[in-house]
Amino acid sequence: MENIIEQINVNMPHKKKILFLLGSTKSSSANKQIVLLLMQQLADSFEVEIYDSLDKITHFNPDLDNELVPDSVTHFRQAIEQADGVIICTPEYVFSLPGVLKNAIEWLVSTTIYTDKPTALITASSSGEKAHESLNLVMKTIGAKIGNHSSILIKSVKSKINANGNIVDIDTQKLIELLIIDFIKQIG
Ligand SMILES: Cc1cc2nc3c(=O)[nH]c(=O)nc-3n(C[C@H](O)[C@H](O)[C@H](O)COP(=O)(O)O)c2cc1C
Repeated sequence: MENIIEQINVNMPHKKKILFLLGSTKSSSANKQIVLLLMQQLADSFEVEIYDSLDKITHFNPDLDNELVPDSVTHFRQAIEQADGVIICTPEYVFSLPGVLKNAIEWLVSTTIYTDKPTALITASSSGEKAHESLNLVMKTIGAKIGNHSSILIKSVKSKINANGNIVDIDTQKLIELLIIDFIKQIG
């Protein structure tokens, strides 16, 4: 895939921060390969980071969603607050969002820190339709700013990525390019 950023004129006075949330904890994750590819493309123009401890966030409990909020949650909320934009990349598990991602999002519901946050959504899975629908609904509910081209479903993901982690499907490459261009516009 050609470098997307070279095709658009990104001219920002200081590097804005893009945070990636990865719904898979698998070491050989296809979603992780997509995230690494995007990070590579964006790294010259943006500060890029994967939130790598989604699986360490305490299970959501409304009784703790107050002054008792756990440190793992405070850390996650700060990372979201500090990001100029968030890209979520996730598989579907049992027709839904993976628990680690859903749990993290549940901790955001009582706050306004997600309001108008530029966001791109990638569901990359065998099928993924239900999770993608759910992800869109959930993120819009907490106030995410999602452009018209910033939400994509990549079906049969394993057939679209080669052993080197490159996307080999032309349609998927184009969808990802459009997503990145649209997402960068939302960041402004
Ligand atoms: C517990 C479990 C449940 C799954 N359920 C679904 C599902 O409902 N729909 C789907 O499209 N794929 C499902 N899959 C397959 C994943 O989409 C596939 O393994 C995908 O590559 C996982 O993404 P990753 O490689 O980034 O971890 C499931 C996989 C696991 C391990």
